[in-house]
Amino acid sequence: VRALADAPRKVDVDGDRRAHSHILGDATQVSLPVWSRVTGSRNHDRQAIEWKRMSNDKYQLKNLTTGKTSDLETLSGTVGPDVINIGSLWRDHGVFTFDPGFLATASTESRITFIDGDAGTLLYRGYPIEQLAEQSNFLEVSYLLLKGELPDAAELDSFKHSITRHTMMNQSLARLYSGFHHNAHPMAMVAAIVASLAAFYHDTTNINDDRHREIFSHRIIAKLPTIAAAAYKHALGQPFVYPRNDLDYCSNMLHMLFSVPCEPYTVDPLHAKALDLLFILHADHEQNASTSTVRLAGSTGCNPYAAISAGVSALWGPAHGGANEAVLDMLEKIGDVSKVPEFLTRVKDKAGGVRLMGFGHRVYKNFDPRATIIREMCHQVLAKLGQANNPLFELALRLEEIALKDEYFISRKLYPNVDFYSGIIYRALGIPHSMFTVMFAIARSAGWVAHWQEMIADPEMKIARPRQLYTGPVKRDYV
Ligand code: CMC
Repeated sequence: VRALADAPRKVDVDGDRRAHSHILGDATQVSLPVWSRVTGSRNHDRQAIEWKRMSNDKYQLKNLTTGKTSDLETLSGTVGPDVINIGSLWRDHGVFTFDPGFLATASTESRITFIDGDAGTLLYRGYPIEQLAEQSNFLEVSYLLLKGELPDAAELDSFKHSITRHTMMNQSLARLYSGFHHNAHPMAMVAAIVASLAAFYHDTTNINDDRHREIFSHRIIAKLPTIAAAAYKHALGQPFVYPRNDLDYCSNMLHMLFSVPCEPYTVDPLHAKALDLLFILHADHEQNASTSTVRLAGSTGCNPYAAISAGVSALWGPAHGGANEAVLDMLEKIGDVSKVPEFLTRVKDKAGGVRLMGFGHRVYKNFDPRATIIREMCHQVLAKLGQANNPLFELALRLEEIALKDEYFISRKLYPNVDFYSGIIYRALGIPHSMFTVMFAIARSAGWVAHWQEMIADPEMKIARPRQLYTGPVKRDYV
């Protein structure tokens, strides 16, 4: 990180540093964000950790027709269920495993994030999400996800400096927005603009070069707020607002979203803090659909910006990051607490595929710790904003209460997930529905780049190429 922050000018041939130099004069005189960590060096626990070992449990696969057996290698991680290596099945037995939706399949080994769905535990690099939410900030968490350890004060300053120096958007890239209709969904614009970054940074996309990978990672985390805010401004028909290097990450995000050139705008620190907390909670979630998409696309060796764009697109779906937008739409449609029973009846009847959005999770079967934190945060933020009786929040609380007593949700272990309450806070901050998933994408960019880095650095990386159970026509002649 230090090397990148002190990088010579030749690295930034994209124009970032030139642009900053032009606008700001001597970039080294620009002040650092205000919340720099003041602690001294951290005593990193660098003792050798046994990450992966053979499990004591043994498994064997037996073909009951032929009697042929194979011993299956079983591996234990540091915590969590063992995995059975089924790589030899095809070679030994000529069969594949079948697990649509990856219900019981670990697609990779990873050291970044751990979830225990029954216990409601979420750890980033071993640190509980509750502690990070309470004591850390989004950029420090991003560093942790990327590097594996919390930074000391100098490391954090250096990282923040680097992120701040990469926030600007190339002017040619900014012109791409004009090709979009004013009512284009911002996720469509963000996916396209992120993919277009691949056309701007040919100098630093050698995925086998550590430094190039690091610069790419910093650019993604740095530029996504700028790209996202520009999508919002384009929809409004307002001029794009340049990033401000004197603001911290989330204050700058709010500044780019809400300020206009014709009058002063002061970021409310409470808003910035609330956004920062939401970003921490959304920063990573191990092998979720969008992260797996980034890994799968990236495993081909494609341009990393293209891989991140694929992740943005995967996140957009309502079963994943698009749920936050869908929750608010749902709450507005329900409209009143008196309509909750009628709505839940439709959900339980599965009429027209109606789901209780923001409920249920593939991994959490007890509670989602992020939802617990966000629900509490809603109380605090809305109270401080003078919206303690926010009707949508009251409706959401009542909906949760009724659903959690209902046999349908109890028997299926369906609980509020991270997206059930996040939209209420975004809305209280003045962020429109269509931008909710974009905000999620900004936060998840930290996880995406951490996973992409981990995968590319793995000497055993292979192209991700699933197999299938073919059920189409057998060979036939064209007549
Ligand atoms: N409302 C009503 N029924 C549900 C819901 C829901 N939100 N979620 C699951 N079910 C039912 C589902 O119909 C099925 O019932 P049955 O056994 O009768 O067929 C059972 O619960 C199991 O559901 P599933 O779809 O097999 O579970 P899954 O692990 O494949 O899906 C999920 C997980 C998150 C996609 C799903 O719970 C869902 O669609 N939730 C609503 C969308 C949502 O909030 N997504 C955000 C997820 S958290 C943030 C993120 O990942 O980005």
